[in-house]
Amino acid sequence: MAERLVIFDTTLRDGEQSPGISLDVHEKLEIAEQLARLGVDYIEAGFPVSSQGDFEAVQAIARNVHGPAIAGLSRTHLADIDRCWEAVKDADLSRIHIFISTSPSHMEHMLKMDRAQVLEETRSAVSRARHHTDDVEFSPQDATRTPLDFMIEVLQAAVDSGATTLNIPDTVGYGIPWEFGDLIRYVGTNVRGKYIISTHCHNDLGLATANSLAGIQAGARQVEVCVNGLGERAGNASLEEVVMATKIRADLFANFTNGINTEEINRTSRLVSRLTGYPIQYNKAVVGRNAFAHESGIHQHGVLSDRSTYEIIDAATVGQKGSQIVLGKHSGRHAFADTLKNLGLEVSGEALNAAFNRFKELADRKVEITDADLEAIVAEELGTANVDSFILDELEVRGGTSSTPTAKVIISTRGVKLESEAEGDGMIDAACKAIAKATSSDARLVGFNVSSVTGGIDALGDVVIQLEQNGSRVSGRGVSTDVVEASARAYLSAINRLTRAKERSTSSASEITP
Ligand code: KIV
Ligand code: ZN
Repeated sequence: MAERLVIFDTTLRDGEQSPGISLDVHEKLEIAEQLARLGVDYIEAGFPVSSQGDFEAVQAIARNVHGPAIAGLSRTHLADIDRCWEAVKDADLSRIHIFISTSPSHMEHMLKMDRAQVLEETRSAVSRARHHTDDVEFSPQDATRTPLDFMIEVLQAAVDSGATTLNIPDTVGYGIPWEFGDLIRYVGTNVRGKYIISTHCHNDLGLATANSLAGIQAGARQVEVCVNGLGERAGNASLEEVVMATKIRADLFANFTNGINTEEINRTSRLVSRLTGYPIQYNKAVVGRNAFAHESGIHQHGVLSDRSTYEIIDAATVGQKGSQIVLGKHSGRHAFADTLKNLGLEVSGEALNAAFNRFKELADRKVEITDADLEAIVAEELGTANVDSFILDELEVRGGTSSTPTAKVIISTRGVKLESEAEGDGMIDAACKAIAKATSSDARLVGFNVSSVTGGIDALGDVVIQLEQNGSRVSGRGVSTDVVEASARAYLSAINRLTRAKERSTSSASEITP
């Protein structure tokens, strides 16, 4: 009889802790709805006590997203646990996930607690959570650097107080697969009671997926994962890798089932990428654009004869199809809306009008518009719709090999036109400087990435820019057949996000991260 491997997605909590990601409630809801379509068992929707914004997002997901159970993260403080429960309680199924650090380094430098205090915190926190729900997860943070005797003592205290899932976080990505597997086995053998073991592996050594698989082999029945491997620092185990590894190597994982509809993997990955502004690396396993591309003649020959010669995954299984031409300049609003729907893009109202206008502009410059182009422009429009403080009305750039690059912009904000000019090291630099001047922004540019959406000389340039201001880092995205315009759009979109982040943080209490 096959056992359930519980897929616990933490893209909206640990994934959102990646530098530069700051999702608003609507974006989180959109991702959560897609995670439900994908078929995850749990959505860890956030850390409700960390900010008012996070609380509201978790609550909105708990109230509106059906299918997966909804989890919220909480420290051991009793007030945090009550707040977490407030946020998740309206879900069809709700979980409270409590964590406390157990490694000597964290206990000494962060918690300033001794073993007895950590044990007491664990008992009181888990008991309080059990008072609210019978689905309580407990995590000894930095487990892989925690002395075994103490880890077992804390986990036993958690189970005795009512924890039903014991999550073993490799918080700093320090574990090596066989060692991590041994750790999971050790927990299973030494902690008495009824619970399931979970893995939570970070990718600092590039081993998060391997460690998660070793954990399953050693007895874990829940894996904590993020779409596209997002997460703190180098990220978490990637959902698509863990799921596809267990599917493709069903000979080794024959005893497990999960609820994932793998055909939704690609769509989920692209949605998360475009809402977070984190591009998917070309050679990313399972979802990268090169995952099914073959460059060498020998490989191409093999694949043309039989795809299985060099492909272990059928692209259709993960919902990956080649870019297809879907629309041209004569396509109307109806066909446009219909095509978006078929691509799984739910756009309506003002955002649909704005996306249609961008499509028309694009169709004048580019003969064939593919599904990938459409996704890119819709992504940009959805990232900026309704709530933009600044809108790019005009951009004019001049430059060449023998003249100083200059840019002039006209930006409107709440009915007012702002005009500015600047010189720069290149035309992109000049455009960004002119925008910074017009919007009086002193944000620092910390990341710039340009890629092409499809091939060809008229391909859309897709630019992602990261800006930092007062410790807050955000990203913005822009697309256009002209990379200078795409960069200007991305720059302005990041400034808009910073403005929104500032508005949010002035309306919420201090922000806390695990
Ligand atoms: O990495 C970690 O330790 C965490 C915990 C809060 C589970 O994310
Ligand atoms: Zn983590």
